[in-house]
Amino acid sequence: MFLLNKNIVLGVTGGIAAYKSAELVRRLKDQGANVRVVMTTGGKAFITPLTLQAVSGNPVSDSLLDPEAEAAMGHIELAKWADLVLIAPATANTIAKIAAGMADNLLTTICLATAAPIAIAPAMNQQMWHANATQANMQLINALGIDVWGPGAGEQACGDVGFGRMIEPGEIVQHCGDFFAEPIKTLSGQHWVITAGPTREAIDPVRYISNHSSGKMGFAIASAASKAGAEVTVISGPVNLATPDNCARVDVQSAEQMHQQALALAENATVFVACAAVADYRVADIKEQKIKKSADVMSIELVKNPDIVADVAKLTQKPFTVGFAAETQDVEHYAKGKLAKKNLDMIAANNVATQGQGFNSDDNALTIYWTDGSKELPLTNKMELATQLVASINERMHDDKRS
Ligand code: PMT
Repeated sequence: MFLLNKNIVLGVTGGIAAYKSAELVRRLKDQGANVRVVMTTGGKAFITPLTLQAVSGNPVSDSLLDPEAEAAMGHIELAKWADLVLIAPATANTIAKIAAGMADNLLTTICLATAAPIAIAPAMNQQMWHANATQANMQLINALGIDVWGPGAGEQACGDVGFGRMIEPGEIVQHCGDFFAEPIKTLSGQHWVITAGPTREAIDPVRYISNHSSGKMGFAIASAASKAGAEVTVISGPVNLATPDNCARVDVQSAEQMHQQALALAENATVFVACAAVADYRVADIKEQKIKKSADVMSIELVKNPDIVADVAKLTQKPFTVGFAAETQDVEHYAKGKLAKKNLDMIAANNVATQGQGFNSDDNALTIYWTDGSKELPLTNKMELATQLVASINERMHDDKRS
């Protein structure tokens, strides 16, 4: 229904998943969309333009420099015609070109020339997906506001197993529908306060104690809650991240500062999510001047910081309070211990000893626990994971109110 009369330029690039493009076009058309296919040279090696012309009912475009094609519907017309430019499959090569703003073929030129939103469904070998260059390009893609659907994990055409498979045509069509759907603002009227990032505990004017938290997980939760209609405030330790759209932000350095802001803001919050990696201890005696090197061994006395999430959970007007547990062993045992000891409504546990997830990575996996239940949120990118977590928190909060 949401795709009725929507104009979709479908870019097909050179990956084995291109064979699924015919089904994708057919399904988009079944939903009422108008589809015009643009192919790269690589895409044509995997599926013929004739096939995609037949299923789309429109001529397929593949050349920037073909006067005849340009006379029919040139790149500017295609760019203007589109309500959405969807690239599926999107290879590492095309992703790199779009990230760099290149315009060396018809598809990349349309991406530069269009005012329409762009979405990509990445498809490549798992090693190529994890390559530093691809991940750096994906950060640029995210910063450009391009929607990324997938990739999925599993067995690949080359025999490898891992992330990089294009998600299925049915899922892509679902994403397209969601994209054009009027967002159902399920959290409207709610105020979410989210702590994110590390804290810094000063030792002297030039040194501090901190940890590896990047803030990505907390900011992704803020963004997901805001997209779902909540009013969101992020209390952030020092991070290098842009504030998610429509979120208020309070910057702090130390655990004590975060504690003060959190208690003030949580009083009027519907939900409090403690995603920050707060230092458990601070330096007892912060030196006013830089400490000079002298003895071979030195020790610094530390004192306990206030427990922010536990104190929020003690408020008379307590918001639905969600903690995180960052563990390297016995994850379930320690997470459940923190759930009970801090009197939380829910805790999201992550194993921060597993490579490629947890601190300062783009992906994560969580198990959420509440008093009489639990739920697995499997490994995926932090934005997708945050969307699932926000939905689970909202669901639990309503279940709690009903019981
Ligand atoms: O920021 P990223 O790079 O994206 O990484 C994400 C993350 C790994 C930091 C995140 O997923 C996470 O696990 N955050 C919680 C980290 C942590 O401090 O966990 P903990 O098990 O030590 O603390 C338990 C809970 O108490 C947490 O909700 C923490 O915010 C809270 N706490 C801890 C100490 C303290 N003084 N006050 C607190 O509120």
